[in-house]
Amino acid sequence: MLDFLNKKIYFVGGKGGVGKSTTSAALALLLSKQGKKVLLVSTDPAHNMGDLFHINMYGEITSVRTGLDVLEINSEKETFRYINGVKDNIKGLVKSTMLDEVHRQIDLAAASPGAEEAALFDRITSLILETIHQYDSIVFDTAPTGHTIRLLTLPELMGVWMDGLLDRRKKINKNYAEWMNDGEPVEDPIYEKLIERKDRFMKVRDYLLNYDQTEYLFVLNAERLPILETIKAIETLYKHKIHVHTLVVNKVIPEKADGQFMEKRRENEKGYLNEIQDVFANKRVLMLPLLDRDISSFEDLETFTINLESCLLAGREQDR
Ligand SMILES: Nc1ncnc2c1ncn2[C@@H]1O[C@H](COP(=O)(O)OP(=O)(O)O)[C@@H](O)[C@H]1O
Ligand SMILES: [Mg+2]
Repeated sequence: MLDFLNKKIYFVGGKGGVGKSTTSAALALLLSKQGKKVLLVSTDPAHNMGDLFHINMYGEITSVRTGLDVLEINSEKETFRYINGVKDNIKGLVKSTMLDEVHRQIDLAAASPGAEEAALFDRITSLILETIHQYDSIVFDTAPTGHTIRLLTLPELMGVWMDGLLDRRKKINKNYAEWMNDGEPVEDPIYEKLIERKDRFMKVRDYLLNYDQTEYLFVLNAERLPILETIKAIETLYKHKIHVHTLVVNKVIPEKADGQFMEKRRENEKGYLNEIQDVFANKRVLMLPLLDRDISSFEDLETFTINLESCLLAGREQDR
């Protein structure tokens, strides 16, 4: 089978509106049609998987057809769950007289801009480390570009940050042990928890940087800004050792679109398509046609999926 369809994890990135959610759904559907058990995870706040699969989503993993489950992550709910988890972890670690103040601080932190992201990342981490064993593949429909990059590079950043923190705590602990006891090491539960978390981040990182298991797709349209943004995003990811191998150029004007207006649009688009082939010469470039209406039903999604599959097959012929 095509190497591309044999991955464990897929991340689908790109600017809002280019067709990430549609591509993710189509890819998940295609994999499930190949007999795999697939989980499609949407982290986009504007969910529409329910519409695409004609099913109500309640923020939990929902089976939408044979071999295909969908999870729409609700970031507000996730932050709440995450914060409660943090509070639980702290229980027993701080003096009970301090608990109110500590909770107040945690609630303040929960309202900060990074909290939602941390919560989301925590959920993705547990999907990758635990839930993955129930599936052949997980497809992540990630939110717009900047956010996605931060999310994917977080383990690395956290790693560096935590190394520093762990060092400092070790030192403090050493002094503490020397002062308070007879130099005997004391147990440090916070230190243990930090190590545990760091281990988890490192494990996810191993998954994310293993190209036999993980594939990154970028969706774009044949227009100036999406091309520029894609170049920038791919470069940033590359700096963090994440390599994007596949591009989906979506909404390409089909041959059969006629009329003078379309002729002009196609002419304009041709320049950009050539540019894409040029700039991304070493990548797999899949071109998907603009359909005559938006993809809002399962039937439309099936048409889109057939196009995706034939693009992949054509690519394989070229590789030979
Ligand atoms: N090939 C296509 N032809 C026609 N409409 C499309 C195509 N791909 C996506 N769309 C429509 O474009 C809009 C944006 O797609 P979506 O997948 O939600 O983008 P994103 O997740 O990147 O924001 C949706 O209304 C979708 O139905
Ligand atoms: Mg989307």
